[in-house]
Amino acid sequence: MVTRTRQGQTKAAQGTSRSSTPAVLVIHGPNLNLLGTREPEIYGRTTLAEIDRQIVELGRELGIEVETFQSNNEGEIVDRIQNARARIDVLIINPAAYTHTSVAIRDVIGAVELPAIEVHLSNVHKREVFRHHSTIADIVEGRIMGFGAEGYLLALRAASRLIGAKRRKNP
Ligand code: DQA
Repeated sequence: MVTRTRQGQTKAAQGTSRSSTPAVLVIHGPNLNLLGTREPEIYGRTTLAEIDRQIVELGRELGIEVETFQSNNEGEIVDRIQNARARIDVLIINPAAYTHTSVAIRDVIGAVELPAIEVHLSNVHKREVFRHHSTIADIVEGRIMGFGAEGYLLALRAASRLIGAKRRKNP
C-alpha cells in the first residue's frame, strides 16, 4: 500500500516504509506539565517526566519508538500531529482541557488518518458535566480513562496490538 507523506512523496520513496520500527507519538495537552503537583487527589503524584520515562521504557520492551510531546497551545499540538504524520503508526493523545472544546484537534486527527487512542488520567464521566463531552471520542480507536498514569501504558499496549494487526493485514 502506498502511503502519502505530508510533502506528497511516498514513504517508500523516502525509505521510511512502515516495515521499519513502529513509532508512536504521545501528546499531552495543556497543564499536564504540572502533573505531580496539580490537584494530586485527581491526577496523582507522578510527574510528566516520570510518565514519559515509563512510556519510553515500555516502548523499548515492545519494540516501539516513542516520541512524547507536551504543549499548552492548541496550534502547536495541531502542528506536531501534522508533522509526525509521515513517521508514526499510532497517536496516543490526552488533549486535557482541549478534549472538551477543540475542533482543530479533532480535524487534524481526521486529516492525518492515523489510528488514535484517547487517554485521560481521571474518569471524566465521574466529574463535571462539561468534561463528559469529547470532540474526538467518535473518531478514536478507543478511550482509556480513570487509571491515572497507568492509562498511558495500557494505551501503548493497545497501540502495539493495533500495529501488529495492521502489519499482519498489510505485510
Ligand atoms: C484530563 C481531564 C480533563 O477534563 C482536564 O481538563 C485535564 C486532564 C485527564 O487526564 O483526566 O486537564 O484530560
